[in-house]
Amino acid sequence: MPEDKNLILKRKKEHLELCKTDEVSFKNKTNGFENYDFIHCAITEVDINNIDFSTSFLNKIISYPFIISCMTGGTNESENINLRLASVASELNIPIGIGSQRHSINNSSNNHSFQELRKKAKNIPILGNIGASQIVKIKEFNKILKLIDLVEADGMVVHLNPLQELLQPEGEPYFKGLLKSIYNLKHRLQIPLIIKEVGSGISFDSAKKLLECGVDAIDVAGAGGTSWAGVEILRNNNKKELQFWEWGMPTSYCIRNINFLKKDFNFSLIGSGGINNAFDNAKALALGADLTASARIILQALNESGTSGVINLIKDWHNTLKKIMFLTGSNTLQDLRHDKLIRKEELY
Ligand SMILES: Cc1cc2nc3c(=O)[nH]c(=O)nc-3n(C[C@H](O)[C@H](O)[C@H](O)COP(=O)(O)O)c2cc1C
Repeated sequence: MPEDKNLILKRKKEHLELCKTDEVSFKNKTNGFENYDFIHCAITEVDINNIDFSTSFLNKIISYPFIISCMTGGTNESENINLRLASVASELNIPIGIGSQRHSINNSSNNHSFQELRKKAKNIPILGNIGASQIVKIKEFNKILKLIDLVEADGMVVHLNPLQELLQPEGEPYFKGLLKSIYNLKHRLQIPLIIKEVGSGISFDSAKKLLECGVDAIDVAGAGGTSWAGVEILRNNNKKELQFWEWGMPTSYCIRNINFLKKDFNFSLIGSGGINNAFDNAKALALGADLTASARIILQALNESGTSGVINLIKDWHNTLKKIMFLTGSNTLQDLRHDKLIRKEELY
């Protein structure tokens, strides 16, 4: 039986409230970027004013290799957050992911909110979003195609969240047939398929299997940022599961390993999971990410300083990225990805 729409909206509201704070961060595990340093280039000849970040993503030219990650959709507060973030994405000409469209599978009351979103962000890539537990249940994919049409999505995201489903009292940790469903979905879609985690990371082996299914992009969404075990433990006051708070593989580890698969597969690698400052953003790109993405820090910036706060944050990170490229002798992001990082232990 489909889950009650009010329950889904209530859960989303609770998630948004908890994610406005840092209480839901990983406590001990980090994203691992602190283990790396940039290799200083004393003979740099880079013209900092000539660095151009524009790149192609989902068949559109974007101005920065950065995605406002999937968080909300739907009505009321969620809709408001989404529309404000869409105006940020539109102004900066960067992609935005919407939160799970699950409630719209069997319900049309939110359709207008997706249409509004597309109106607000006419020209940028918008990513639709659905959970793995939904795609294994759906027998025919017309319903997913409808979700894509609603927002005129440029790419469809399937989020993998086994830990979250496991810890939610109302969760659905049933993923039998997942890879086959991903393969079938990929071959029904007319737009690129992106697979992401939500904070536990994706391993080399899992990524390889996903790429063999034909997926177009992988967003590692690794550990070190928002702990979705943490969110569910706090939401349900479920101290028994505290042992899972730190579950997952650090973002830097996932990017570094999945990057090796670029030799054999053509895909976009998205680095996310605890990218909360300019240096981590730059290190994710230097380790091999084609684009980076952030979720909770964006929500917090919107909450604290409005749309201008989010715009300033993203611009500021990319100004710092230019400085780092100057100091590492990188004319392009392609240059930055070539041997510009060193593990700190090698420095001493
Ligand atoms: C409030 C909130 C709601 C989220 N909802 C979704 C969602 O509906 N679908 C999804 O794929 N990921 C969702 N995420 C996960 C993020 O997209 C991201 O993968 C994860 O939070 C790790 O990134 P971070 O450390 O920058 O927060 C949500 C994150 C936040 C903070």
